[in-house]
Amino acid sequence: MKILFIASELNPLAKVGGLGDVAGALPLALKKLGADIRIALPKYGVIDEKKYPCELVAKDIKIKIGREEEKINLYKTELGEEKVIVYLIDNKKYLGEDGVYFEKTAFCGSFAEIKRFLFFTHAVFSLIEKLDWQPEIIHCNDWHTSFLPVFLKMKSKIKDKKLKTLLTIHNLANQGRWNAQEIFDFLGLKGDETESLGKRQLGSYGEDLNLMQQGILNADFINTVSPTYAREILTKPYFGRGFKETLLKRRNNFVGILNGLDTETFNPETDPYIKRNYSFRNPEIKKENKIYLEKKLGLKVDPDVPLFALVSRLTFQKGIELVVNGLKNLRDFDFRAVFLGVGEERYEESIKNLAKKFPGKIAAEIKYDSQLAQEIYAGADFFLMPSKFEPCGLTQLIALRYGAIPIVRRVGGLADTIKNIRVKKRFLNFLKRIEGNGFVLREYDADKFVKVLKRATSFYQNKDLWRRLQIKAMEEDHSWQQSAGEYLELYEKILQT
Ligand code: GLC
Repeated sequence: MKILFIASELNPLAKVGGLGDVAGALPLALKKLGADIRIALPKYGVIDEKKYPCELVAKDIKIKIGREEEKINLYKTELGEEKVIVYLIDNKKYLGEDGVYFEKTAFCGSFAEIKRFLFFTHAVFSLIEKLDWQPEIIHCNDWHTSFLPVFLKMKSKIKDKKLKTLLTIHNLANQGRWNAQEIFDFLGLKGDETESLGKRQLGSYGEDLNLMQQGILNADFINTVSPTYAREILTKPYFGRGFKETLLKRRNNFVGILNGLDTETFNPETDPYIKRNYSFRNPEIKKENKIYLEKKLGLKVDPDVPLFALVSRLTFQKGIELVVNGLKNLRDFDFRAVFLGVGEERYEESIKNLAKKFPGKIAAEIKYDSQLAQEIYAGADFFLMPSKFEPCGLTQLIALRYGAIPIVRRVGGLADTIKNIRVKKRFLNFLKRIEGNGFVLREYDADKFVKVLKRATSFYQNKDLWRRLQIKAMEEDHSWQQSAGEYLELYEKILQT
């Protein structure tokens, strides 16, 4: 089975968020299971060629897009022990400058970005025939590559008419929407080439085309990254972000498959970034990582006081205001907290202000820093993620593996991976059985969040229980094994239709 996986990010070459983690792990897991899978990615200027040597495959290939003729070079590199081939599309004008995305939030905000990814998708589409390896399925990811099924439908010049497409939705809130006429002009389209192109949305300057919607309407199959999020976006308008009806049309070709974690990269036993390695066999070593972290962050060191952590893109999705208000109102006991991330100005400001108000107690690290992120997972007691919505979320899984107990909201992938901790008493008090792996908040409510924080810390005070809880969390298996198998089955199903 031959699959071409196309995405805007790829860990470790060019990663911004969870999509990059998935792109850097799922294809490897699929190859282990026997799939012949390759990846296509823009050759961004930020890719470090010293670390990831790229070999030139073809030079000066002409690509016609609208009225323009551009040249691209095709490079290739390999990923992981499985040696998954990565094709890199090189074009200075559209793909080479700046980082991966144009906004700190990673959400689409400009026509330059729309053009970047339409160009990339079109280049991949134009190259397929020229490759000496022909995929049977193209696995697209999010709006950045969701126009590929439209290109396919418009010009079925591809020799193998059986070429199928799967679109994975990683986040429905990021849709890739822009003025339809400008997009048509860029692509040299009239706008009536497919029925779907007639679907427009009222925008600020006339009608908008929505690239995610075009993908949903045209892909052979669609999936999202957790069963609960799949249900939420089909049934609840807030989660569906205007797409409930579009998705309902495709409901027979739509499923949710839970993301996994790259357990080789995220392994406290071997992680080169953390002060001292540890595992479920010696969770007490976490304390040394905690002391090191508190010192590094300029916090008052006290290993007996709980340390809360939030590592996230600072966007409206992530429940930042709940955390800021919650910690402000947490007066019953002493604690430490650290925030790490960048994003919307309003959140960056409120976090900085909070840290100013509580020096030595709360630290604000407003930046992207993957080493510090690992040090935080290794040092923290609790990981905060009370998202408004969460397609899957990967950081709660990293936190579990590092023994930082997640405090989450019961939405999307968080509901599928984190179950509320309960202690069941057996006949004798010392034979307590622990169920669950985190603390779960139902409603998006600051007071209730504070209650959950208090409940969580009451467990933290009980040393024996806490140790068992950490060991249990660290031992859980959230690897890709199971889900990669589900993707394989889905590919097979798609090929049969
Ligand atoms: C997006 C979602 C996140 C998901 C990730 C990978 O970043 O917000 O929930 O885990 O994509 O699928």
